[in-house]
Amino acid sequence: YRQFTVLAVESSADDTCAAVVTSDRQILSNVVVRQDNYHESFGGIHPYVAIKAHQRNMPNAVKKALEEANLAVSDVDGVAFTQGPGIAGCLSVGANAAKTLAAALNKPLVGVHHMQAHALTPFLTTPTEELPQYPFLTLLISGGHTLLLLATSPRTFRTLATTVDESIGRVFDKVSRMLSLPWNTHGPGAALEAFVKFGPPAEQLVAHAEGQIEAPEFSIPMRGRLAFSYTGPHSAVERFLHARGGIVNDTTRYEIASRFQRAAVGQLEEKLALGLEACRQKDTQIRHLVVSGGVASNLFLRERLRVCLDKASPNVHISLVFPPPSLCTDNAVMIAWASMSRFLNGDTDDYTIDLRSKWSI
Ligand code: KG4
Ligand code: ZN
Repeated sequence: YRQFTVLAVESSADDTCAAVVTSDRQILSNVVVRQDNYHESFGGIHPYVAIKAHQRNMPNAVKKALEEANLAVSDVDGVAFTQGPGIAGCLSVGANAAKTLAAALNKPLVGVHHMQAHALTPFLTTPTEELPQYPFLTLLISGGHTLLLLATSPRTFRTLATTVDESIGRVFDKVSRMLSLPWNTHGPGAALEAFVKFGPPAEQLVAHAEGQIEAPEFSIPMRGRLAFSYTGPHSAVERFLHARGGIVNDTTRYEIASRFQRAAVGQLEEKLALGLEACRQKDTQIRHLVVSGGVASNLFLRERLRVCLDKASPNVHISLVFPPPSLCTDNAVMIAWASMSRFLNGDTDDYTIDLRSKWSI
């Protein structure tokens, strides 16, 4: 008996990824070539720039994934790729690489749903005794996603809530940049968390005592509804700064940052509690919440979610599961892992398979 070895590629957004994973949960390689291709003025990833970067980077990403796994391409048993959702032109780079490789090697092919792959990551990374049990909830919070999902089986997911406008991660980034917060190796979102954690400047305490703090007020958008919105908090900060010509003192910057973080996380808490309530009404007992995406590394958020779960479910303990940060962000390891059961069951795709740029979960 030999374990099944999958080579996977992922290119749905702006990172070019390739990885090799085996059916006995070994990650043999995990290559991620990042592009910093987010355009403030464009309001997103520039597709043409991203496609060109994928075309340039994909061949070497695959080569490197095989080298790091110490494998010849003939050792690969199956090839997986992200079929959707994502930017069509970006997806096609990975899809064509995977289809051509599989056809040339005469190996089976599987197209994977990107979001399902995110949600299935903990089954690869969690110790066996702590694996989430179905049904469980997943909060996927990053620059690209703001999603609350209900997973009832490895291939059945329901979207309980998604964002109607911007993602939580992007708005963390934008507020951090508007406040010109100190540079942080983990990016502007992490810079905002660090700025708040560092504590208020001394004069803050005096100002508080004298009741002179001024900062925008944040409310929870669409309270009572299962939907996220981050444009509200974003423009509240923008309007506040604009009215002051963009000039505010350290005390005010601190107050804006900490109120924003509380509001951004508070919104997640409110929607999570609603999601749990909706499950309870259908007699669906949840015992696990998986939290992934770049924003999941925020420690204030981790604390608040723990408190929120204990409050929403005082009698039944709900475990929090955080996959390691390197596998929370876009990667091809999760694509390989999500394809595994289909390879093992012989449920594979044709070499003619199409992309699904828009694909609900
Ligand atoms: O999953 P990810 O690495 O990739 C994209 O979706 O692009 O997520 C990146 C996002 C960024 O918007 C970043 O600001 C946010 O995650 N992020 C954080 C923290 N660390 C990263 N947001 C809040 N607090 C953090 N500590
Ligand atoms: Zn993703």
